[in-house]
Amino acid sequence: MQTVTRIPVFTDDPGWHGKRLSEAFAARGLEAIFVSLKDCALDILPGRAGVIIPGFEDGLPPGVFVRGVPGGTLQQVIARLDILHALKMLGVLVYNDGRAVERTVDKGMTSFLLHHHRVSTPPTWVCESRHHAQQVLLRETMAGHALVMKPLFGSQGMGVRRLEAGDILPVPMEQHVEGLYYLQRYIDSGEGAWHDYRVFIINGRAVAAMARHGSSWVNNVALGARCEAIANDSEVAELALAAAQAVEIDYCGVDVIRDCQGKLSVLEVNSIPAWKGLQTSTGIDIAQALVDDFCAKLPVSQPGLQSIAG
Ligand SMILES: Nc1ncnc2c1ncn2[C@@H]1O[C@H](COP(=O)(O)OP(=O)(O)O)[C@@H](O)[C@H]1O
Ligand SMILES: [Mg+2]
Repeated sequence: MQTVTRIPVFTDDPGWHGKRLSEAFAARGLEAIFVSLKDCALDILPGRAGVIIPGFEDGLPPGVFVRGVPGGTLQQVIARLDILHALKMLGVLVYNDGRAVERTVDKGMTSFLLHHHRVSTPPTWVCESRHHAQQVLLRETMAGHALVMKPLFGSQGMGVRRLEAGDILPVPMEQHVEGLYYLQRYIDSGEGAWHDYRVFIINGRAVAAMARHGSSWVNNVALGARCEAIANDSEVAELALAAAQAVEIDYCGVDVIRDCQGKLSVLEVNSIPAWKGLQTSTGIDIAQALVDDFCAKLPVSQPGLQSIAG
């Protein structure tokens, strides 16, 4: 009897996206198994591969789909990323891989890479010094700009704040005494008609794109933005593609904003993007597109993979 290849989907909260992925894997004859990265471990013993994935003790899978890396202490997060790095070194397809997740979860590194690769992004400052951050705020507001302060590891619009002339710099909500400031020039997309764009990139191709119309300047779908499909071959999509290339990633959701003069900039790149709003507004089956790209990238022959004991 032929056994179905099982693919771990790393997530702590499968939900709607997990269900869609399960169906998409099933359509290609694979079985998605939800696993938390918290339950994986390194078992470093002679004759063993060294990585334990619960349910895969008898052999590592050919690929793993990363749908969530749970937050935790610095040590826990590093250990969870170690699992992704180790699996890749063992020849397992890690989608998205640990490096890409690291580069994009960290908004500071994403901003630096975009700038480094000449992808349009707003002026951004990342610093620990409150004095330095205060000077940036003063200089920018004197020049007529507002600033956006974001958590370095934020998502879904949580904790983003706008700072204007005369505002007191908030103390960042971090465990560290010193805190960390991620400050970005505010891009005005039209007061009262706020919007930005989300482009979904898979394997160097824009597969779907939408405009998000927020009820405030924060246009996240999780905060109730209205989604509207747009063409996926526009200059917005082109810029998003360049952003994906700059961070070297298999797939991602890129946030792009257009200022009132028409200039486009990339706000961030998401390595674990949600796609419910995008799928609903465009009708494109994102989960299947992801799974098909994943399957195309699976190692052709998996010599010994199934036999590398976890
Ligand atoms: N520099 C900026 N100028 C104008 N709006 C911004 C800026 N940065 C973020 N925003 C708004 O806040 C939202 C959330 O910011 P983003 O950088 O995408 O972080 P998150 O990871 O929380 O989604 C964006 O979709 C956009 O609507
Ligand atoms: Mg965003």
